[in-house]
Amino acid sequence: MAKDKVVLAYSGGLDTSVCLKWLQDEKNLDVIAVVGDVGQEHDGLEQIKQKALDLGVLDCQVVDMRQTFVDDYLSKALYANAMYENKYPLVSALSRPAISKHLVDAAHKYGAKYIAHGCTGKGNDQVRFEASIMMLDPSIEIIAPVREWDLKTRPEEIDWAKAHGVPVPATKDNPYSIDDNLWGRAIECGVLEDPWCEPPSDIYTMTVDPADAPDEPEYVEIKFSKGIPYSLNDKQMSFLGIILELNKIAGSHGFGRIDMIENRLVGVKSRECYEVPGALALIEAHKALEDLCLEREVLHYKLGIEQSWANAVYNGLWFSPLKEALDAFLASTQQCLSGTVKVKFFKGSCTVVGRKSSYSLYDYALATYDADDAFDHGAAKGFIDLHTLSAKTWASNRRQEGASADVFSAEKAQGPLKKGKYETVPEIAEGDDCSDIVEEAEQAMYGAAVKA
Ligand code: ARG
Repeated sequence: MAKDKVVLAYSGGLDTSVCLKWLQDEKNLDVIAVVGDVGQEHDGLEQIKQKALDLGVLDCQVVDMRQTFVDDYLSKALYANAMYENKYPLVSALSRPAISKHLVDAAHKYGAKYIAHGCTGKGNDQVRFEASIMMLDPSIEIIAPVREWDLKTRPEEIDWAKAHGVPVPATKDNPYSIDDNLWGRAIECGVLEDPWCEPPSDIYTMTVDPADAPDEPEYVEIKFSKGIPYSLNDKQMSFLGIILELNKIAGSHGFGRIDMIENRLVGVKSRECYEVPGALALIEAHKALEDLCLEREVLHYKLGIEQSWANAVYNGLWFSPLKEALDAFLASTQQCLSGTVKVKFFKGSCTVVGRKSSYSLYDYALATYDADDAFDHGAAKGFIDLHTLSAKTWASNRRQEGASADVFSAEKAQGPLKKGKYETVPEIAEGDDCSDIVEEAEQAMYGAAVKA
C-alpha cells in the first residue's frame, strides 16, 4: 500500500534533517522536502538538496522565493514601517507565511495529507506556520516532530541522528539559534539567554562593530515611487537589488543592530538580537518621506494601523481578514508617496538628512519665519479660542463652584500621598550590614521574613 505523504519545511540543518528521518521512521510517511530560498545564508542549495535525496525523500524542491518575498511580503512591511514593539522589523515573521504558501502549494501538487515543520513548542514560528497553513487549506494536517519527540537536548538529537544514519555537521556546534533572510538576521540562545550579558561580537555577520566603521560618513539617496524604492544614488535598481545593496552599505557602517527583550505570543519574554541594516535604513527613509507627503490626520491614524499590522503579522495572522483590511488602508496611503530621501551612515547610525517630493505638503511660505511668511497670524487667536473652548468651560465651572485652585493639582485632589517606610531609600554605605533592612522589607511585603 502506498504511504501517506508529508511536505516538510526543510533547511538542511540538523533539526530538520532529524525531522525528515523521524517522519520516515516513526510516522511511516513519504517525505517531500521543500527548501525555501528567502535570501538566507546557506552552504549551497544543491548540497542541501542532495542531503535530502540521500536521506531518501520522494522529492526535494528548492524554491527561489526571493522575488515573491520582496514583492508580496516585504513591500507590505515597508508600507507599514512594520516594527513589532517599535523595535523589531519582523524578519522571521515575514518569511513564515511566504514559506507556508509554498508548502501548501507543494502539498496540493503531490497530494500530501500532512505538512511538517521543525519548530519548537515555545516559539512564535510554529504559530506562524500553522496559522498560515490552516488559513490556506484547513484540510491539511500538521505534524510538529520537535513538539512530539522526546529528544530534549542537542546531544540527544545528535545521538539519535548518528543512530539513524543522519549526517551530523562536522563543524563546531553553533551555540546560537539563527534565522535569516533578505530582511535581516535573528540570533537567539547561548549566552544571549542572560539579558545582562553583552552580545559577543561574533554573533554578527551582516554588520561591523560601529567602533570599527569608517571614519568618514557615507551619503545615500533613495528614490521611492508609490512607497517602493527604485533607485539608489541615481542608479535604477529593483527593490530586491536595493535591499541587498543597502544591507552591504549600512552593514559596513555598523548600522542595524538590535538587542531587545521581546514578548513572544506564547507568553514568554525572550532576549533577541537582530541585525537588520537594509530593512531599518529603508524604514527610516520611508517614514521620512511619509512625514513630508502624508496629510497630518492620515499620518497620525496610520501610526495605529502600523502597530496593529505588526502585531497581526508577528502573531502569525498574515492571511487573516484583519491583516488584509489593514493592507488596503496602507496601500491607499502610498498612492502619492514618491520622492527622494537622503540618508547619512556614520559609525552605527543612519540619519535622514534630506527629503524632497513633488507630492510634498511642506509649504515654505507657511513654515518660514522670514519676510515671505504667508501664514495668517491673526487667525491664530480665534483658532486658540475655539480649540480651548471646551476645556475653558470646564475650568470656569470649577472656579464658580468655589473649588480651590488645588482641584487642578492631582496630588491634592487625591489627598496626600501615603508616606511609607520605604518611600525614601535608606542610605547604605559599602560594607554595611543590610540584613535588618531586608528583613523589614520582607516583613512588609510578605508578612514574614523569608528564610534563606
Ligand atoms: N523572535 C523572533 C520572532 O519571533 C525571531 C525568531 C527566530 N527564529 C529562530 N528559529 N531563531 O520573529
